[in-house]
Amino acid sequence: MSSVSAVIMAAGQGTRMKSAIPKVLHPVAGKPMVWYMSALARRIADSAVAIVVGHGAEQVRDYLHQEEATLAPFFVVEQTQQLGTGHAVQQAQSVVLSDKEPVADHCLILNGDTPLLTEATVRALLDYHDSSQATVTILTTILEHPQGYGRVVRGAESQVLNIVEDRDASESEKSIQEVNVGTYIVNTNFLFESLETLKPQNVQGEYYLTDIIGMAVSQKLRVSALVTTDTNETIGINNREHLALAEQEMRKRVCRIWMQNGVTLLDPNRTSIDADVVIGRDSVLYPDVRLEGRTTIGEDCVVRSHTRITNSILGDRVQVLECCVFNEAEIDQEVNIGPFAHLRPGVKIRARAKVGNFVELKQAELGEGSKANHLSYLGNTIIGRNVNIGAGTITCNYDGYRKAQTVIEDEVFIGSDTQLIAPIRVGRGAIIAAGTTLTQDVPPEALGISRPVQLNKEGAAKRKRDSRNRRSSDSTSNVSGQNNQAEDSSFHKDEL
Ligand code: UD1
Ligand code: CA
Repeated sequence: MSSVSAVIMAAGQGTRMKSAIPKVLHPVAGKPMVWYMSALARRIADSAVAIVVGHGAEQVRDYLHQEEATLAPFFVVEQTQQLGTGHAVQQAQSVVLSDKEPVADHCLILNGDTPLLTEATVRALLDYHDSSQATVTILTTILEHPQGYGRVVRGAESQVLNIVEDRDASESEKSIQEVNVGTYIVNTNFLFESLETLKPQNVQGEYYLTDIIGMAVSQKLRVSALVTTDTNETIGINNREHLALAEQEMRKRVCRIWMQNGVTLLDPNRTSIDADVVIGRDSVLYPDVRLEGRTTIGEDCVVRSHTRITNSILGDRVQVLECCVFNEAEIDQEVNIGPFAHLRPGVKIRARAKVGNFVELKQAELGEGSKANHLSYLGNTIIGRNVNIGAGTITCNYDGYRKAQTVIEDEVFIGSDTQLIAPIRVGRGAIIAAGTTLTQDVPPEALGISRPVQLNKEGAAKRKRDSRNRRSSDSTSNVSGQNNQAEDSSFHKDEL
């Protein structure tokens, strides 16, 4: 196999997306389209990968640099005016040619908007290019509704003659169902020679890369076309409908991969897993679970329905019940969470801990074996081992100006309905009585309690009930109401 460089055309505005962000940054299964194209090119090319940016160049460039770890090495070149796909490839000349000599014999050219294209298909295209000794090889597919795509015009012996863009096509050309996918392998010398002579003679006034096919034919150079039957793989995303189709297809693919790797998905059509997620074997995902971003799920975990986990790490044997939301949380093994738990950024839940319903944590660590089972807010808090956080516990971590820290040491018992006004520390083994508002540190092994003294008024409840009953029987004979009110307020004064 001869050497291959690659060019990705990612400079277009994507007008039909009607979006403020550049088209190639729109995500599919959580990763921008340009990531898929660049990662694919990187796997195939054995020399330079050029990524042509233009519309929203800064944003695309910033994104590519963030992903350097998975995509490097690549070169970003700028197409300052988007004059067409042929013009876009020309901008990559400085990368693909060195001293006017090709860095590789052949150049793989990819549209930036076909993220479903697979490595296997591109390798098959390369093999075909090689075996047919072609100057240009294109990938095509047959579509029932080919509108919007460039049509592949073939001659009498079905040899490819040229590609006609949808907007330039005659009525008879429009009826051709074989379309250009936007994936090309071109002899590098021929590529740049022919690009030099391109003319923008078409409805859009653009320099079309697709015109090089007709040029090769007129120079009697061989043009090959590989027809793929997988029409999902070839979706070029031009508008939001295409984006939704690509999203569905990519999600199916990701689900399939995890099932093949030993993960149970009770209903893959209702499970959404981003491309970067990693899941350990024998984990079970119930319907309507969303795993987003760089999330890692350990082995033997169970995630129940309507839970969304973003950029979080779960250890092995973690059980997550229904309707939880985690974002940037780290959860160690054998933890039980939910239902209805909210873990916000900076949360660490240590092994065998429990987080129950309507518990929210933010910038907080819950130590090994500790429990916060009901209705609590724990923010900017470090909680040690084997601590019990009672129902309705609230860390008051914000005074309207800044956040303050709460520390709860090992073996502490916090009674229900406790407020901890931070900054505050509760020493090891302390007990906090239910209903306490803590304003000072509690020493180790102490009992912290702050409650108004309780008063029991003997018989007061009965007197209140009797007075109510009297009033309702009076109201049938005396409707003035004034007397009743006076009677009522005197009851309040005396008894409450
Ligand atoms: C293109 C093909 C068409 C093919 C279709 C497949 C051309 C002329 N047409 O049409 O035959 O059927 O893809 O999906 O190539 N771009 C630039 N700079 C530009 C213009 C475009 O970098 O000046 C990039 C875009 O960002 C995009 C890619 O090139 O990633 C294709 O451009 P697009 O406008 O989507 O072309 P289509 O009309 O879809
Ligand atoms: Ca397109």
